[in-house]
Amino acid sequence: MSDSRYSQPSDPTVSRRELFNSRNVFILAAIGSAVGLGNIWRFPYVAYTNGGGAFLIPYLVALLSAGIPLLFLDYALGHRYRASPPLALRRAGRKWTEMLGWWQVLVCFVIAVYYAAILAWASMYFIFSFTEAWGDDPEAFLMGEFLQRAETPHIGFDFVPQVAVPMLIVWILTLVVIGLGVRKGISRANIVMIPLLLVMFLILVAQSLTLPGAVDGLNAFFTPDWGRLAAPGVWAAAYGQIFFSLSVGFGIMITYSSYLRRRTNLTGSGLVVGFANSSFELLAGIGVFSVLGFMAAANGRAIDEVASDGIGLAFIAFPSIVSSTPVGPLLGALFFASLVFAGFTSMISIVEVCTAAIQEKLGLSRGKATLAVGLPMATASMVLLSTTTGLFFLDITDEFINKFGILLGAFAMVIAVAWVLRKLPLLQRHLDRVSTLKFGRAWLVLVGAVVPVVLGYILVSEFIKHITTPYAGYPLGMLGIFGWGMAGSLIVVSALLAFTPWRRGTRQSIDEDGLDTRYEEIMQK
Ligand code: PHE
Repeated sequence: MSDSRYSQPSDPTVSRRELFNSRNVFILAAIGSAVGLGNIWRFPYVAYTNGGGAFLIPYLVALLSAGIPLLFLDYALGHRYRASPPLALRRAGRKWTEMLGWWQVLVCFVIAVYYAAILAWASMYFIFSFTEAWGDDPEAFLMGEFLQRAETPHIGFDFVPQVAVPMLIVWILTLVVIGLGVRKGISRANIVMIPLLLVMFLILVAQSLTLPGAVDGLNAFFTPDWGRLAAPGVWAAAYGQIFFSLSVGFGIMITYSSYLRRRTNLTGSGLVVGFANSSFELLAGIGVFSVLGFMAAANGRAIDEVASDGIGLAFIAFPSIVSSTPVGPLLGALFFASLVFAGFTSMISIVEVCTAAIQEKLGLSRGKATLAVGLPMATASMVLLSTTTGLFFLDITDEFINKFGILLGAFAMVIAVAWVLRKLPLLQRHLDRVSTLKFGRAWLVLVGAVVPVVLGYILVSEFIKHITTPYAGYPLGMLGIFGWGMAGSLIVVSALLAFTPWRRGTRQSIDEDGLDTRYEEIMQK
């Protein structure tokens, strides 16, 4: 087998594609993307409110029946068509499938815009931990002194310097890593950060387990409520958590797997990534609930009164825990450093999707593509998020992009690839050919039937929920712009991008439409 036969000299996206040094580096980067805020601040609460210990059953079912199969689909698309989502889906199909690729790119764009803000806050809180800068009322500190949140939700542009400065630093670092490329930037960042993250997090969890009250927290977290398993919502929550947590269906894994050598054990890697991500999630559940158990005991309250997720957990509950134990500053520093590292490796992965897509479409060098994508992204991010109204924007956009960006985009891609283009058998052969663990037809059934049914169910129920009750009681105008409007514009903008011409070299490789045939020939040898 020789790569040069497959790649045409006229097609630099195929022949000169930068590759990960080894499969292990790819696995590390994929874990870096998967392990993010979702693991640390989302999973523990989702599990707790959906049956505690009993949640592990739907969770594992979701992982095995949909999460990992969808991960394999992303790997197969990226690895076979060797490109980021628009070009990969263009090569697998037509113009309208390219549009689905742009949709995923835009989802990444939007997430990056607000993810940078959370990273910036976490970095500041790392520093605040040493002096417990939040005083006795972390909530008042967060909303008042630190974020200076406006009284009422509206759109405004009053800057908050202590948020703007760290955000700018986050953007500069991200773009430097992306600009350095796959080997010098992305690989190195993950090689350094992921092991460090693991060590810090293990110390954090070990330390939390020794706090008084930790056992009660763990009991609350693990005590199974079997009755809950009858509720469809619990199953939907499990699938939703798995999709988000594994970073499947929004282009990241397609992009990363396009940087793999031709012969790479894809399914083996996917299983490692999937189980590593879930192990980290469980570990986070143990750490977070030990700490919450301590907090409940210290304040004489029940666990369910102190349990929370997201921003409330990280920037309100955690600081008050830090203030109430002598080892607090250590716990706080470890916790916020973990958030920053876990988040930064995820941030890199989403920005990379956008950079790679533009690089391929316009035929730019990596440096130029990084600037072409990075400057508008960073500007949007600074203008919208480092203001007194940034939190409202973040909250609404996050909710809508998760539901009607990621899930809807993944659903559309699966239907397109499985049922319209009917590429699954080809992709299954591809996976089986390069991998040691072969899943054969079972994979076809899971991706072709189970995944669309589950995604369809979740989407319809979310849609009904959102049209019957306005999300979190926000004014309809704001939901209209940052929620529905933003989600709707993804479709329009992705169509526009799909109709923008490719640069010549790439266009030839698409128009030949022979990629699959050529590939089959090579792989047979
Ligand atoms: N899996 C990531 C997480 O758990 C999801 C994600 C990836 C979010 C990249 C943003 C950016 O947080």
